[in-house]
Amino acid sequence: MPVSTFRAEFLDTVSGLARGAASPGLALFLWLLCVGAAWAGEWLPLANDGIHDPRSRAVKILQQPREALQGLTPDHAGNQVRWVQVLEKGEIRPREKLFPQTVVQKLDLDVILDAKGGMPAVRFPHRPHTEWLDCVNCHDGLFAKSVGQSKISMFKILQGEQCGVCHGAVAFPLTECARCHSIPRPGQSKPVIPAGIDPRIHQAIGQGQK
Ligand code: HEC
Ligand code: HEC
Ligand code: HEC
Repeated sequence: MPVSTFRAEFLDTVSGLARGAASPGLALFLWLLCVGAAWAGEWLPLANDGIHDPRSRAVKILQQPREALQGLTPDHAGNQVRWVQVLEKGEIRPREKLFPQTVVQKLDLDVILDAKGGMPAVRFPHRPHTEWLDCVNCHDGLFAKSVGQSKISMFKILQGEQCGVCHGAVAFPLTECARCHSIPRPGQSKPVIPAGIDPRIHQAIGQGQK
């Protein structure tokens, strides 16, 4: 599906849901989703992005997102850039450290998190994470350094905890179910989205909706 069609359909569904939403809290959440999606798709100029003050002189000096991002490997989600591939292909070469004495640690270790229910299991790859992030971003605050200790759940992720601290905020969004739930179970041909989760609104139904 072309990006624009996907976005139009997504916005349509979500704004429809927002209009029909029973509670102001849910309507606000859905509205924020629309704003986020519109921003993601169009690389709005800084003056209209709702973040920068259009009267500020900085708006004329700062590089525009479109100019900075359009040459990079594209993504259909989030801020429209496939950052892991951008780094792999050497399209950008960020400085790894500020201080010469800092030891950069990388780890090539996949952890399989076996979600219960009908979803394919989750592969958590350390390699791409440790290319962007130091271990202390996750250990031992967000996650224990021991498989199975952290009681990871989709509900918490959707509340912005655990993987959701970054995914949906600075890393690819939670609508990309299959990028995490990437290991199909034997005999399973495609992801089965369980009754309790509505992927259109990233929200466990009946939970967290006040
Ligand atoms: C950023 C990674 C990530 C994304 C994106 C993601 N999930 Fe998950 N999901 C997880 C992790 C991690 C678990 C917990 C695995 C475990 O049990 O240890 C999980 C667990 C689940 C579970 C099992 C029940 C539970 O609450 O733990 C379901 C169902 C689920 N996810 C559905 C979805 C759906 C539907 C989407 C897309 C709308 C999605 N997930 C997107 C990482 C993700
Ligand atoms: C983006 C978050 C994140 C970063 C950064 C990260 N880890 Fe992890 N790590 C995890 C998660 C999630 C698990 C699985 C936790 C669970 O299952 O409860 C894990 C598990 C581990 C484990 C246990 C593996 C096993 O098989 O028992 C070790 C060891 C580990 N990490 C070391 C590191 C080191 C060393 C670094 C830095 C080079 C690092 N991690 C960076 C998220 C991260
Ligand atoms: C501290 C921030 C942080 C946390 C916590 C985090 N991630 Fe990520 N993750 C990133 C960043 C940054 C990237 C690279 C940018 C992107 O792909 O959007 C990434 C990329 C990924 C990728 C893409 C790898 C690829 O090859 O494209 C997967 C899969 C992933 N994360 C799964 C998870 C899962 C599952 C969890 C929770 C167990 C998790 N992440 C927790 C920051 C985080």
